[in-house]
Amino acid sequence: VSLAAPVVRCALEQAPSHCEGAFVLADANVLRRYPAFGEAGPVLAVRPGERSKSVRSLARVWEWLAAAGARRDSRVAALGGGVVGDLAGFAAATFMRGVPVVQVPTTLMAMVDSAHGGKSGVNLAAGKNLAGAFAAPERVVLAPAFLATLPAREFRAGAAEVWKYGTIALPALLERLESAPLSRRSPDLEDVVAACAACKLDIVGRDPYETTGERAALNFGHTVGHALEKLAGYGKLRHGEAVAIGMVAESRLAERLGHAVPGLARRLAVGLASQGLPTGLPDGTDAEALVAAMGGDKKRTGYGLAFSLVSEPGRCTLVTGVAPDTVVAALRSG
Ligand SMILES: NC(=O)c1ccc[n+]([C@@H]2O[C@H](COP(=O)([O-])OP(=O)(O)OC[C@H]3O[C@@H](n4cnc5c(N)ncnc54)[C@H](O)[C@@H]3O)[C@@H](O)[C@H]2O)c1
Ligand SMILES: [Zn+2]
Repeated sequence: VSLAAPVVRCALEQAPSHCEGAFVLADANVLRRYPAFGEAGPVLAVRPGERSKSVRSLARVWEWLAAAGARRDSRVAALGGGVVGDLAGFAAATFMRGVPVVQVPTTLMAMVDSAHGGKSGVNLAAGKNLAGAFAAPERVVLAPAFLATLPAREFRAGAAEVWKYGTIALPALLERLESAPLSRRSPDLEDVVAACAACKLDIVGRDPYETTGERAALNFGHTVGHALEKLAGYGKLRHGEAVAIGMVAESRLAERLGHAVPGLARRLAVGLASQGLPTGLPDGTDAEALVAAMGGDKKRTGYGLAFSLVSEPGRCTLVTGVAPDTVVAALRSG
C-alpha cells in the first residue's frame, strides 16, 4: 500500500474549496487568520500547541465528529501545522475504522514533512507519538502563501527540515541554502517547498513502512533531536531546533566513526547558524543523560544505538550497533 498521497499545488484563495463538505479540524490561530475555512463546513478549532496532540483531544475530536454527523462516507480536513495534521490524521484513520483525510498544511514543517507520508498519532505521558497509525492522506494541498503569516521562529524550525533534505538527498538544494538562507521572501520558496515534499514522497514511496532503512534517512538528526526534546521538556525547544542541533551532533558522530567525510559537521554548523538555528547542545546538557534518553527511542535496535548518518551530502544510511560511549564522546567534542 502506498503512503505517498498526491500533492495539489494551490493558491491561497482556492485552498478552502478543498475542504468543502469535509469536517475541518483547524488550528485556532490559523482559523482566526483565514476565516474563509470556517465557511467550508463544520469546523472544530484546535488549541495551538503540542499539548493538543493528546488522547484527550483525540477523544474530543471523535465525539465531535459523531455529534456533528460525520459518517463512513465523510472526510476530514486538517488545517494547520504538524500538531493538527497528526491529530486529524489519527482521528480520521480510526473514526468508524477509517475515513479519508485531506491535509492542508500551514507551517513550513508540515508542508515539507509532516503532512506527507501517512504517519499520524498523539503523544502519551510516556513519550511522543506513542499511539498512532499509518494512513495515507487522500491528498495534500500545498499553498505556500500561508507562510506569509507564520511566526519567524516557526519558519526557521521548518527550515531545519529543508536543510535535512538538502543534506540527506538533495546536494544542489544544500548548496542553494548555503548561498542564502531560506526566508519567507525567497523568490524560489515555492519551488523549494515542492522539492522537499517530492523528496519525502519519493523516500516514502520506496519504503512506506520503514523496513528497508530508506525511510529511516528521514530521521537524520532526529535520534539526538528527539532525546534533546525529551530532556528539555516538550515545547521548550521547537522540534526543528532540536533537529538542527541533532544534525550537527550526528555528523560529528559520523566523522568520528569514519562514516562521514571530514568537515561535514562544521559545514552544517555554519549553514544552520546562518539560518538562525541553534547548532550546539544547550548549556548544561549532560551528554550521558542525553544518550540515556536515546535508549528509550523507538529507533533503538538490538545492541547499541541506531542512527541515520550522512556520509556525504546526498547519501544517508542507517548505522546500527553504535556504542553509547562513542556517542557520549562525540557529543562532548562539540
Ligand atoms: N507525521 C509526521 O511524519 C511528522 C513529521 C514531523 C513532525 N511531526 C509533528 O509535527 C508537530 C510540529 O508541527 P509544526 O512544527 O507544524 O508545529 P505546530 O502545528 O505546533 O504549529 C506551530 C505554530 O504555528 C502556528 N501556525 C500554523 N500555521 C500558521 C500560519 N500559516 N500563520 C500563523 N500561525 C500559524 C500554530 O498555531 C502554532 O502555534 C510535532 O508534533 C511533530 O511530532 C510529524
Ligand atoms: Zn522532524
